[in-house]
Amino acid sequence: MFDLFLSHSDLQNSKAGGITMSVHGQAKKVTTHTLQEMKRAGEKITMLTAYDYSLAKLVDSGGVDVILVGDSASNVMAGQVTTVPMTLDHMIYHAQCVKRAVDRALIVVDMPFGTYQGNSAIALESAIRIMKEAEGHAVKLEGGAEIVESIKRILTAGIPVMGHLGLTPQSIYKFGTYSVRAKEDDEAAKLIEDAKILEAAGCFAIVLEKIPRELAKKVSEAISIPTIGIGAGPDCDGQVLVLHDLLGITMDFSPRFLRRYLNLAESIDGAVKQYCEDVRGGDFPNDSESYTS
Ligand code: KIV
Repeated sequence: MFDLFLSHSDLQNSKAGGITMSVHGQAKKVTTHTLQEMKRAGEKITMLTAYDYSLAKLVDSGGVDVILVGDSASNVMAGQVTTVPMTLDHMIYHAQCVKRAVDRALIVVDMPFGTYQGNSAIALESAIRIMKEAEGHAVKLEGGAEIVESIKRILTAGIPVMGHLGLTPQSIYKFGTYSVRAKEDDEAAKLIEDAKILEAAGCFAIVLEKIPRELAKKVSEAISIPTIGIGAGPDCDGQVLVLHDLLGITMDFSPRFLRRYLNLAESIDGAVKQYCEDVRGGDFPNDSESYTS
């Protein structure tokens, strides 16, 4: 039986387009250990969100290392103003769709608001549902010292945990704004302390969202697990973006950190308008698009 999982020595194997290949030419599966080896080797980690089968398939074949089934699905998929209303059942549904599509990437699933804070038994139960019902590879929780008991309890079941510090959108009503976090010394010091607590608890990586680049650099140097930044500058060990932002589908969201690689909103608008014109003008369907008896 040939091992399709990446190990340390695999990193020295042949590479195609930045993707480590097995000797059989198949892309090998990314694991939490792969990410830690990548940090050690100074290789940047790529992470993108996906919430559905079709886009997850494209993201995976594009060679991204980690697919995040983010609770940003609350905004992007469901049109909610915040991520707070997202439920565990909804997260499991999105994760199941993504899981069916993915061959190579590590699948990390966000634990939604209310499924892990303040009660480590509920946290473990929720994480087990994600692993059992969606077969995700890992879960992500927002917060530092205040949720460490939940993180430790989830880890006791052998479920890998990714942390998330800085701007944590599930706490939007505490912050009152989506602006840059930890600009002040005391919040920056707490963030560094929290990163060390998460590492000591056993997290395999930490997302750093919307913090000054200097602070993200300090955190990345202070811990041995990878940091994945979003709006946290170039010195994190990897980067993550929301796929719909990168593709230019969500045009009402334009933070400084976002680079749009496509303008799909315009392309889709053009295609829909053309389709309507063709149907209304009798041009669609034409003879070659119709069946004959
Ligand atoms: O839910 C999400 O998409 C996230 C990313 C912004 C990191 O947590």
